[in-house]
This record gives sequence, C-alpha cells and structure tokens, in this order.
Amino acid sequence: MPKDKQLIVFNWKENPATSREADRLFEALAKATGNKARKNIEIVACPPFIYLQELSKKLMIARAHFSLGAQDVFWEDIGAYTGEVGSAMLRGIGKNVQYVIIGHSERRRFLGETDVTVNKKIKAALSAGLHVILCVGEPKEVRKQGIAAARQYIKNQLKKDLQGLDSRLRGNDKKNGDNKKESLIIAYEPIWAIGTGKNADPDDARDMTIFIKKETRQFSDVPVLYGGSVSSSTVADYLCYTEINGVLVGGASLRGEEIVKMVRNVL
Ligand code: 13P
Repeated sequence: MPKDKQLIVFNWKENPATSREADRLFEALAKATGNKARKNIEIVACPPFIYLQELSKKLMIARAHFSLGAQDVFWEDIGAYTGEVGSAMLRGIGKNVQYVIIGHSERRRFLGETDVTVNKKIKAALSAGLHVILCVGEPKEVRKQGIAAARQYIKNQLKKDLQGLDSRLRGNDKKNGDNKKESLIIAYEPIWAIGTGKNADPDDARDMTIFIKKETRQFSDVPVLYGGSVSSSTVADYLCYTEINGVLVGGASLRGEEIVKMVRNVL
C-alpha cells in the first residue's frame, strides 16, 4: 500500500450466493474504478475463496484497477487440515491477490478465532508476502464503559495479535523488496458499528486511529483503516482525515450502485 494512498477494502463476507452475482459485483467495481490507476485511492475486493480464482482471471483480462484479497487464511501452507486454505495457495492464484483480512470480529465470534490463531495466521501470511489487514475493535459492553476501556481492549488485542512480529516484518521487507509498513495494515472495526447502520463518529474513529498508530509504533507508520457501517454518504467523512488510511466496507460492498457512488465520491 503506497504511503500517499488511501484504501477502500470491500469485504463481501459470505456473499453473494452465486458466481453470476459475483460477476455483477465485479462489473460494478470495474466500472467504478475504470481502467486508469488512481493517484489517491487503491481499491481492494475480498470475495469468498471460491470466487477468487475466477475473479483474478477476469481482472487480468479487464485490466481494471483494483486488487483482490481473501477474508481469512490458515497458518500452514499444506497438509491434513480439512477445509483450510493457506497463504501459498492464495499467492499461487496470481499477483492480483495481494491482501488478506485476518481476525475479523465475525470469525472471532462465530468461528472460535482467538488471538493465538490470529497471531499464527498473521505470521504465515506476512512470510508469504501478503498484505495483512488485521481487524481489531471493541464490543458494545466495553464501549459503554467509556473510551479508556475501549482503548485498553484494543491495546490488549494488538499486543496478543502482533506478539513476536517485529523481526518477521523486517524479514518480509527484505524478501519482497517491500517496505514494512506496506505489509501490515490494521482495521479498527468497533463491533457495535458493524452491520448496525450506526457508524462511529469520524472524529472518534480518527482518535482511535491515532491511538492504534501509537500502539504499533514499533512497526513505524502502520496504515489504519476504519470499518463499520460505512456507506457512500459517509465514506468521505472518514477519508478527509489524513490519519485514517482507508475504510473497510461490508454491507455497502454488495450493491453495485453503492460501490460506484462510493468510489466516485472519493476520487
Ligand atoms: P458493515 O459495513 O456491513 O458494517 O461491515 C463492516 C465490516 O465488518 C467490514 O469488514
């Protein structure tokens, strides 16, 4: 992720139901981004694993200016791990697949993802040269206790999720000729804002972004995104802050018109 760009990441979650609909979303993205690289914004779509290969091929043919990511990855590359997909498999799809979301709150809540598994996944994905988007964020009960409690919650998550990572990030830099801040990205996604229509106040999101940057300063300038009920009418309220390096979008990424509006509103 180049330093002067902001990211819009579309997380499709377990959607859409058919590859035909996935194609339609792809077309909307291609229309929104056009065939010219944008100076200020980079767009990433994260569909379910099953659509990645086909969309990667389409992307090469269409030469549209966005890239792809996965919504999760396993920490082993190969072996007897039923149902899992590893980093090498993702890299093998092609150079369009550059990103992976790790530790989304829905995986932590419904699929038993823990800070320990998140940490292992981050290490594996970074070693493979993927850009990791680590999701952190506090639940409503914690937020009700105030901003200090929310910060402490996120601080704990970051500490556990990023444990032992320093040298790996450096190793990764050398191997890929990347610089380290390009490999690790944090998404601040307060759980109470996800899928509720109650997006966080942009000033509060900015404050938390600054806090997360401080807490991760050992990696220097980690880009931080905001996620939680972002729509075409609110996206610019976040991206107008230079401290917020982008947005992670769920529900709005499943409506073609909304995708086009969102991208056009910030280009
Ligand atoms: P919504 O935009 O639907 O609130 O989802 C946010 C999210 O979870 C993105 O990862």
